[in-house]
Amino acid sequence: MIQEAIREQPVPATGGTELFHVIDPRVFERRLLDELCDLTTQVRTVAKSYAGARLLQELLLNRRAMFHFTQPSTRTFLSFNNACHVLGIRTSEIRDPSTSSEVKGESFEDSIRTFSSYVDLIIMRTHSPGRAAQAARLMDTIPRPVPVINAGSGSDQHPTQALLDIYTLDRSFSERGGIDGKIIGMMGDLKRGRTVRSLCYLMKNYADVHLVFIAPEQFAMQNDVKHHLEEHGIPFRETEQLGKVLPELDALYVTRMQSEWDKADECPAVDFRRFSVGTKELRMLKPEAIIMHPLPRGPELDPAVDMDPRAMYWRQERNGMWMRVAVLLKIFRMESRIQDLDLESFAAQHGDKPLVS
Ligand code: NCD
Repeated sequence: MIQEAIREQPVPATGGTELFHVIDPRVFERRLLDELCDLTTQVRTVAKSYAGARLLQELLLNRRAMFHFTQPSTRTFLSFNNACHVLGIRTSEIRDPSTSSEVKGESFEDSIRTFSSYVDLIIMRTHSPGRAAQAARLMDTIPRPVPVINAGSGSDQHPTQALLDIYTLDRSFSERGGIDGKIIGMMGDLKRGRTVRSLCYLMKNYADVHLVFIAPEQFAMQNDVKHHLEEHGIPFRETEQLGKVLPELDALYVTRMQSEWDKADECPAVDFRRFSVGTKELRMLKPEAIIMHPLPRGPELDPAVDMDPRAMYWRQERNGMWMRVAVLLKIFRMESRIQDLDLESFAAQHGDKPLVS
């Protein structure tokens, strides 16, 4: 079990709807979430035209970002990298610490401070929790602090995944009153899945949401998250029987077993088939419900589900890039350049077809 002391600690928000470090999802308020969702849609609309793409490209041409990803990543790395490129941000990376001075015994603090000498943003994925928060705290003590983004901290938190998940839910339910009032199931290894842990922390921002945790007992949601939900009056239930709850769900967020954290072959001891989705489960799901997954998938999600219109995970994956563009704009205080844009006249001025989302 992760010890309390080394979990991510919220870095206080800089106030209002401003963003600097992105470390812990608990600091996100509804106003900021709504703004980020709107901004994400505005950005992807603008990016559709050549003139819009060029406008975006020039917004942060003077900025550089670095990726310190010492834990495997496909989606988070590629989507952040491409989000940077959408905005003209130049990127550099360390993905293998054996190629950096960390092997010469350079301290974590000195390494982070060195990164900050060259770039304007550090995006970090680490095996241990608490490292991004530690880097952010260090930044707050030096003359030239740069923002730090937690892109996945051990099995603890993954705040930007939670943001893109909120965007996916919000967009999917846009014709049905948004996320408020929805019944959201989370299934799989809830104990060690950082995506569901972070998503739970954002749920306090939505009214009348009900959560249903579907997990084997050994991988049940941990008490820290459950206490948080209780504190904020968010009802949740726990079950091992997917079939019993499937028909009432508005969204089912499926996750894989996080076997990389096994200490004594815990995963092979569980019958995963009870926590998986295939064509049989689809028949029990409401026609308007959605299926999400942070990916990568394991056997818990049959590829046959991909063809179903309720499968939202490939869109969710792409939403990640656009949401990360919005996050970068907020961090560098450039959001008004997109928010204030009159899309009609911008399109007319550049001889583009009207931009539609
Ligand atoms: C997740 C992660 O790395 O936590 N993937 C992602 O970022 N999209 C989920 C996982 O690995 O199970």
